[in-house]
Amino acid sequence: MIISGKELSARLKAEMAEQVAGFPAKYGRVPHLVVILVGDDPASVSYVTGKAKASEVVGIRNTTVRKPDTISEEELLALIRELNADDTVDGILVQLPLPKHISEAKVIETIAKEKDVDGFHPLNVAALWQKQPCTVACTPKGIIKLLKEAGVTISGKRAVVIGRSNIVGLPVAKLLLDENATVTIAHSRTVNLPELTRQAEILVVAIGKPRFVTADMVSEGTVVIDVGVNRDPETGKLCGDVDFAAVEPKASVITPVPGGVGPMTICCLMENTIECFLRRQH
Ligand code: GUN
Repeated sequence: MIISGKELSARLKAEMAEQVAGFPAKYGRVPHLVVILVGDDPASVSYVTGKAKASEVVGIRNTTVRKPDTISEEELLALIRELNADDTVDGILVQLPLPKHISEAKVIETIAKEKDVDGFHPLNVAALWQKQPCTVACTPKGIIKLLKEAGVTISGKRAVVIGRSNIVGLPVAKLLLDENATVTIAHSRTVNLPELTRQAEILVVAIGKPRFVTADMVSEGTVVIDVGVNRDPETGKLCGDVDFAAVEPKASVITPVPGGVGPMTICCLMENTIECFLRRQH
């Protein structure tokens, strides 16, 4: 079974649009998301455009602020502080990666925790690991929604996550653990990775290498979630971290690239923006 994140996210966005349509009468306005894009990296431009389009579908006000990659760290931090203080702004997202002269850590911790729609702020991360109410990072949140939508039982399963990033690997491992999976996190120094991944009943791949996971690394019946967004070195087309054509026949459930995890990330960003908005109303 191929699970379409595109379809699920379209359905969830339609539900959110209905919810948001009731906000002006109830709260006097709609949620407002500000996205900051530094520089003109084509992938980042495309992601930011996707976020603006989804906002339009859901009825969320979106402001995209574009800055040249020559912006100083202090200028960017000042902009964030201004948005923190602006009562008409509910969510702030700074598109990553940032130019080398700007500290991502400083940027993330400057965003007010209450407006951190990415769930990257250290206080949100700490809250996640302590099972406290928090904003959960969009991609991991979307992955759990996809698994549940596909009817996958997570509890008691052996889950292997390839990749240990703050954005995907670590938080998705924690969410799978919270769903009572037995979780192993694999990475570039893992010894005999194929042996480990063959034991996985749920395999989440977020390593950023085109077609890294091959058929011999996957057992019959495995649930495969591909987080990769790569350019095929030969064709230039989008491809995942999983060799889809080879792995799909063995997998019980698999996500395509594009149209799998990606749309769910944006969908969860919309959800997080609404959550931040609602928390600020109460
Ligand atoms: N760059 C790649 N993924 C993400 C994400 O989820 N949020 C932000 N802010 N930047 C990203």
